[in-house]
Amino acid sequence: MNRIPVITVDGPSGVGKGMVTRWLAQRTGFHRLDSGALYRILALAAANSVDLDNHAAVAALASGLKIEFVGTSEDDEAILVGGQDWTREVRAETTGALASRIAVSPEVRAALLQRQKDFRVAPGLIADGRDMGTVVFTDARLKLFLDASPEERADRRLKQLSKAGIAANFATLCEEIRARDARDRSRSVAPLKPADDAYLIDTTGLSPEAVLAKVEALSVAAGF
Ligand code: DC
Repeated sequence: MNRIPVITVDGPSGVGKGMVTRWLAQRTGFHRLDSGALYRILALAAANSVDLDNHAAVAALASGLKIEFVGTSEDDEAILVGGQDWTREVRAETTGALASRIAVSPEVRAALLQRQKDFRVAPGLIADGRDMGTVVFTDARLKLFLDASPEERADRRLKQLSKAGIAANFATLCEEIRARDARDRSRSVAPLKPADDAYLIDTTGLSPEAVLAKVEALSVAAGF
């Protein structure tokens, strides 16, 4: 039995998992795993060298990737792959869609499984993803599942993008979010769904502060 505590935070894209997991990591002093970044990095590496639909070839690339997350401020980090800064490319919307495409493959998921488990080091781990509570850390002490309507997530994403000076269209964003949700929720391996023992938090219409107040109450009750 692994005694190192884990808190899992799962949910669809754009629901605020990043905000919640960063806040929890600061509060507890635990490490943080951004599992989506691993899928994104692998998708980018694969897109540069193999056919993305050749899942065996994509999976084979996983073990050779040297990935580092380097804190650049209290709530942000740079993503280095083989010593090079991939942060911008990894975070791009188009990369999320590529990641979702390779994430349907059992071979790809298996190739990233141990890598994710390796993040479980003392004093503890806050794990952000889609299947943290259902597959990767089934014995987590606290499991949260965040959800929000596609419209609300598209609206938040639009605001983030406009803050970053990137133009985007609400209807297109909504459509992309629905397509990615459908793929993530309907895949046969590790589909996006709450673990039976997860607490559900619907963040539609809630401010970030209101979401964090709910998270705080649940984490206090769980002894964190
Ligand atoms: O959280 P994110 O947007 O960075 O994730 C990108 C894609 O990676 C997402 O659409 C599905 C996949 N993913 C996954 O299948 N399992 C995870 N634990 C994390 C991400």
